[in-house]
Amino acid sequence: MTSRSQFVLPGAKQVNVYADAGALADAVSQRIAELVQACVAQQGVCRIALAGGGTPQQCYEKLRGLSLPWANIHIYFGDERCLPAGDAQRNDDMAMRTLLQHVPIPAEQVHPMPVELGAEEAALRYAQELAQAGALDIVLLGMGEDGHTASLFPNNPALESIAIAVAVDDAPKPPPQRVSLGMATLNAASHKLFLVAGSGKRAALQSIAQGEQLPAAQVLDAEWFMDEAALPNRI
Ligand code: 6PG
Repeated sequence: MTSRSQFVLPGAKQVNVYADAGALADAVSQRIAELVQACVAQQGVCRIALAGGGTPQQCYEKLRGLSLPWANIHIYFGDERCLPAGDAQRNDDMAMRTLLQHVPIPAEQVHPMPVELGAEEAALRYAQELAQAGALDIVLLGMGEDGHTASLFPNNPALESIAIAVAVDDAPKPPPQRVSLGMATLNAASHKLFLVAGSGKRAALQSIAQGEQLPAAQVLDAEWFMDEAALPNRI
């Protein structure tokens, strides 16, 4: 097992390793609260894009118990699955269940991706909305077992797009149609936080540590938060 201190990810700002997913969720929720407070103190507003999937859910639940300036926070999404509004498999629905319906954030400050319009139209509209809002302050990101992040998958044309938001076809992780923030948008955020947990992520982390430019590796200057189970056995 790679020791915590030995594990280096090229291009990362910081790598933080925790004993288990619970400790990981505690640490990330505290870091998010710290960044949000500083952002709001500095500019009066904080624009944060949430990650989808399973890993961030425990972190979102912990955020409910922290005193955050919800009146000054705008919530965006790193990606969305092209499913009907209200579908439990949507990333925005997961965020509502685990966090947003439990905190006093004004409804108009939650900005879901309108994927019910179809991926292309949704990507165009979201890009316009983000262009007006300005750069994101914080982006939370997961990483798939193939090294994808948001809905930017290896060898998928969407990964090369320079658009603010991009329609994704043929995603290997169902559903095949999605909308994702583009890589440039992820990199333009002031703070990028990766949440990675579980042994299923070891191979992708090992590849990135060895220099493979998987999509997650293309997000530079990120703070990585992972549990020990995700650490590769050897580098
Ligand atoms: C999604 C996410 C995706 C996710 C990774 C990791 O739509 O599923 O946007 O990018 O963050 O696949 O998912 P887990 O946290 O469930 O492993």
